[in-house]
Amino acid sequence: MKKVLLIGGAGYVGNVMAEYLLNQDYQVFVLDNFIYDHNYSNKHLIENSNYKFINGDIRDLSPLNEVISEIDSVVLLAGLVGDPITKKYSELSININSFGIQSCIDFFDDKRIKNLIFVSTCSNYGLIKENELADENFQLNPLSLYAEAKVEAEKYLLNKKDKVTYSATVLRFATAFGLSSRMRFDLSISEFVKELYLGNDLTVFDEHTWRPYCHVKDFARLIQLVIEAEKDKVNFEVFNAGGDFNNYTKKMLIDQILEYIPNGKVSYTKNSPDPRNYRVSFEKVKNTLGFEPNFSVRDGIYELVEAFKDGQFSDVESNSFRYGNYFIANQQPTN
Ligand SMILES: NC(=O)c1ccc[n+]([C@@H]2O[C@H](COP(=O)([O-])OP(=O)(O)OC[C@H]3O[C@@H](n4cnc5c(N)ncnc54)[C@H](O)[C@@H]3O)[C@@H](O)[C@H]2O)c1
Repeated sequence: MKKVLLIGGAGYVGNVMAEYLLNQDYQVFVLDNFIYDHNYSNKHLIENSNYKFINGDIRDLSPLNEVISEIDSVVLLAGLVGDPITKKYSELSININSFGIQSCIDFFDDKRIKNLIFVSTCSNYGLIKENELADENFQLNPLSLYAEAKVEAEKYLLNKKDKVTYSATVLRFATAFGLSSRMRFDLSISEFVKELYLGNDLTVFDEHTWRPYCHVKDFARLIQLVIEAEKDKVNFEVFNAGGDFNNYTKKMLIDQILEYIPNGKVSYTKNSPDPRNYRVSFEKVKNTLGFEPNFSVRDGIYELVEAFKDGQFSDVESNSFRYGNYFIANQQPTN
């Protein structure tokens, strides 16, 4: 049985990854500190004898000492995720996303793991010209504290080449969509669907800006592909994670959402405080690992609209803090 440790594995992406890998007969260990008090999110997994949860923080990995000899592969997902939360809690963000992640990477220097997969982001490309497509060698241009820390961490890990025995892989994830037991409505597709479904007026900034998107279940499948790949294909390699057909402008997203919610109220405006605009090439992951997403953006929109109709998010407004990376208890915002 393969044994994987998901650090930050009780979040939006992590819970879906854990479910998927359990279904693939993996034994799944998760270390997470539930930074948003979201300990409801993995309750459905706790009973599974192949799932082990460790309540811990990446800044002190001593609770891993008991289990580390059993682990084959590590996926590093933890951190403050997104531009707004890292801006709001900038000191904590530097502490976790820079110092914390780097010390976490160091922890594995002398451990006998086979793979360490660092989950990074296509946000690292920042702002690129309209006619360009960013492949993995494209100049990085991080425009936020969040992306700056990801770029630093990528370099930090890649500098371990020839100094560690494990195979290291960096996956630059597209923006996620899809259902999760720790749902986030602070991501473009889910936020747009939510606002329009609820009949709220939605203002969309810079509707012609591009971004790539990918379903959380596809990310989970990609993790398995990387873990099970021949070492020379993934060892100290960087991959954009997503599919070319899921590069969308915000306007394209809205047009598809309106097909399911025809009465949705949208207005468009310019000069977003978030200037990101990037279209990404996913050729490498396709050619090297045979990975193409199974889910289109349209599939994700349909799935989410159906979940709303089904009443799954009836408390999304009354309980809004539960549904995203908005607020950290007992922490003073820096900004
Ligand atoms: N969601 C996206 O659109 C997206 C896009 C690109 C990349 N990513 C990357 O995917 C990964 C997962 O993102 P997500 O959307 O699931 O975010 P998330 O915020 O839902 O999950 C992050 C998890 O990390 C945990 N965590 C935070 N600080 C920790 C600490 N100090 N110690 C232990 N655990 C800690 C949180 O409690 C949370 O469960 C992140 O690395 C993120 O940068 C996500």
